[in-house]
Amino acid sequence: MPTPTDDAVFETHLPLSGRRQGKVREIYDLPADAHGPRLLLVASDRVSAFDVVMPTAIPGKGRLLTAIASGWFEFLRGHAIVKDHLLSTDLSQIVALDDAQQCALRGRSMICRAAHVVPIECVARGYLAGSGWSEYQASSSVCGVALPAGLRQCERLAEPIFTPATKAAHGHDENVSFERASELVGEPLMRRLREITLRTYTVAAAHALARGVILADTKFEFGFALDRSGSPTDELMLVDEVLTPDSSRYWPAAGYAPGRDQPSFDKQFLRNWLVTLVQSGAWDKTPPGPEVPTEIVAGTLARYHEAYDALFA
Ligand SMILES: Nc1ncnc2c1ncn2[C@@H]1O[C@H](COP(=O)(O)OP(=O)(O)OP(=O)(O)O)[C@@H](O)[C@H]1O
Ligand SMILES: [Mg+2]
Repeated sequence: MPTPTDDAVFETHLPLSGRRQGKVREIYDLPADAHGPRLLLVASDRVSAFDVVMPTAIPGKGRLLTAIASGWFEFLRGHAIVKDHLLSTDLSQIVALDDAQQCALRGRSMICRAAHVVPIECVARGYLAGSGWSEYQASSSVCGVALPAGLRQCERLAEPIFTPATKAAHGHDENVSFERASELVGEPLMRRLREITLRTYTVAAAHALARGVILADTKFEFGFALDRSGSPTDELMLVDEVLTPDSSRYWPAAGYAPGRDQPSFDKQFLRNWLVTLVQSGAWDKTPPGPEVPTEIVAGTLARYHEAYDALFA
């Protein structure tokens, strides 16, 4: 169980090749195994909001994210909907890392099968929140999915919907219709991704709800495993993080009521504080992000902790 007092890891520079940096994670290449190339994914304690990385670490967040994602990977394997990229969280097999590095990385790293990532974010929504709520207010639909009139903010949808977004290399991801996503990566693949996304959301949302948590929406990424020569195979896998508070909206079920915003176990707390800065003219949602005060760091971490405890403790 991760502890919030761990030393913060803001970023890593490991003696491994191929380092690249996402907003929250660092990725390194590992030597291939018998099946193909592997990667090391390290979850730092960075936090991003409005696609901007804050300069302040949330100490221990990377461990909580990794614990939540690992818990979900294990849960989802029991449902056998699709393969996933996770191979191991045991770093002792990486001989290039010394004891201090192993220690810093423990609990925040995943050894994964490398994939050719499908450049579509596969979003499932069971409730009308965030960009889904904004789109609905403007058009009575979300990503081209028509919805009944009169739905309220955060209202539960009769059925979960699939609302893809393009994975922008820079800048914000953009919600797109199923047809537009199909133009980009092919309709047969999009049909498969829609089915897997909705089935996975449904089993995960049921588990969460049984534990008093609403999984309002979530985003999955998929990819094709690479063969030993590095070429994509036709083996589709769930990749990236899964069902973490960074990629999902989690609300306490107790006290849920549509027609207003909900308290949440994700980074909405941080976003709300940032919005007060934007409203006062102190920040304009462009980099660099503002230093995050201690109480907002603690409050953000506490919410990730509550999510872990509710879902898996
Ligand atoms: N098995 C995998 N093979 C290749 N790439 C992967 C795999 N799993 C995850 N990734 C990629 O690793 C990156 C994870 O880093 P992080 O989440 O910090 O990035 P990000 O800033 O969210 O970037 P992005 O907007 O591209 O997701 C993502 O770009 C994701 O697509
Ligand atoms: Mg990401």
